[in-house]
Amino acid sequence: MTTPNRSSRRKVSVVGAGSVGTAIAYACLIRGSADALVLYDTNRAKVRAEVLDLNHGTQFTPPCTVEGGDDISVTAGSDLVIVTAGAKQHPGQSRLELAAVNVKIAQTLTEQLLSVSPDAVLLFVTNPVDVATYAAIRAAGPSYSGRIFGSGTVLDTARLRFLLATELGVAVENVHAFIVGEHGDSEIPLWSSATIGGVPATSFVGPSGGVLGPDLRANVAKSVVRSAYEIIEGKGATNLAIGLSSAFIAEVVLRDEQRVLPVSTLQTGVHGLERVCLSLPTMVGRAGAGRVLEIPLSEKEASGLRSSARTLREVQESLGL
Ligand code: 2OP
Repeated sequence: MTTPNRSSRRKVSVVGAGSVGTAIAYACLIRGSADALVLYDTNRAKVRAEVLDLNHGTQFTPPCTVEGGDDISVTAGSDLVIVTAGAKQHPGQSRLELAAVNVKIAQTLTEQLLSVSPDAVLLFVTNPVDVATYAAIRAAGPSYSGRIFGSGTVLDTARLRFLLATELGVAVENVHAFIVGEHGDSEIPLWSSATIGGVPATSFVGPSGGVLGPDLRANVAKSVVRSAYEIIEGKGATNLAIGLSSAFIAEVVLRDEQRVLPVSTLQTGVHGLERVCLSLPTMVGRAGAGRVLEIPLSEKEASGLRSSARTLREVQESLGL
């Protein structure tokens, strides 16, 4: 394996060597998302073992160095830091129930990480990702808004598109639909702007000859919200899809793709939303999360989005944020 002599080596650090962090590192390695991959965790034995295990596979992946340790300085000079550290949901537990513990971890880590990587983009995955992202931006200061953002409903949107593609017998690449709002129970599917191959989703005729009626739409939306709970019930955590989606977001940042993704950012007025981090279609590139697009909403969708924002703001306020 040769180390790429890129002038701008893309250094990605993953904070947290648990099931999500290692899945993200593994996905980045296989996809060639970075030239230098670092794994940081306070559990020295765990992070060293994960780094060793990853290194043993590097001859089968695109060139990338893999290092790690339990000292935050190992992340120094990162272009992108992906933060997964924190308590994870137990079966049946909501993401918002993790807020009190994980917000403190997010605040502490933000200051530590930026002290050694002052120019890094921080991508939060730690749940509740919207509240953790908001806490991180508050800890870093408003100038970091945009450079600090959360994975938000990218994964929920992928789940929605998978379910629609399966139900309608069409390639997932031809399904354009967003989940917005909280990455959690109050998230909202945007049916009014969803299209399948350019055809409005609500009038697309599936293989059974039926259209995506209100009952089917409601069932699909419920399945998306239930996905994580089901997986956690079965295997203790979700990690593989969040690993792949986070590696994808990393590439969009590092390649400055200016791709529209439903990531969680500090809202500053689109759809009348402020003082809250949640997901709306947003331009993502080398500087992190940029312009939030004012996607048209039905009245029901707008109302659901406001309700989602209220839910998140209540949790923020309960934590003094
Ligand atoms: C997920 O949605 C648990 O937030 C994680 O898979």
